[in-house]
Amino acid sequence: MKILAICGGLREESNTNKLVRKIAESSGCDYEIVELGKLEVKPCTGCSECMMNEGKCPIEDDMQNLYEKLIDTDAIVLGSPTYYMNISGAVKCFIDRSLALYYRGIGPVYNPEMPFLGQRPLAGKLGVVVTTVAGGGHEKALEALAFCMGESHRLNLVEKMAEVIGMNDVHDMPEVMKRAEEAGKKLGSSLKQT
Ligand SMILES: Cc1cc2nc3c(=O)[nH]c(=O)nc-3n(C[C@H](O)[C@H](O)[C@H](O)COP(=O)(O)O)c2cc1C
Repeated sequence: MKILAICGGLREESNTNKLVRKIAESSGCDYEIVELGKLEVKPCTGCSECMMNEGKCPIEDDMQNLYEKLIDTDAIVLGSPTYYMNISGAVKCFIDRSLALYYRGIGPVYNPEMPFLGQRPLAGKLGVVVTTVAGGGHEKALEALAFCMGESHRLNLVEKMAEVIGMNDVHDMPEVMKRAEEAGKKLGSSLKQT
């Protein structure tokens, strides 16, 4: 059982990424950390090539490798800082580009009455989404993460975390780290039951 843990914070000391790592480490499962800040993931251009070409996105960047990792994993942890009461631009680029997966011909059809919405190859995988924020707006960011990964990609989200950090280092906030640990344990035990 393997977890793909996607760190969406681009800062070296990103609190979001610290929580993503804690969740993955606490799961007791094998995991791979992916840092979006170390990859090139360009924005989706909306060209629709993926829809007509078996899910092949024509943009040749690091997302190509991420597509395979997303398909191959059993669970996904995705973290985004809250920016302007929403997910960050880097995480939005990643999520927008993930749309190409719908057209690979894998997984359940999303809506038989609307075949152009494609299939869902990640359906049934487990997931945790997490955001951190200085003060407020995290609810909307969490809603966006849950919509993209839960409702749209059809992951079963075992935990949704939104943590108010202020200007602190989350490693100095034991109660928050404990919640991340518990989320990781829940993900691990859920994975072992699948
Ligand atoms: C572009 C930008 C937008 C932000 N928007 C908000 C916001 O809407 N509400 C808020 O309380 N904090 C906001 N912040 C602060 C971050 O949410 C907060 O510092 C977060 O924990 C950063 O995550 P990181 O440590 O993973 O980088 C913003 C920061 C940046 C850089």
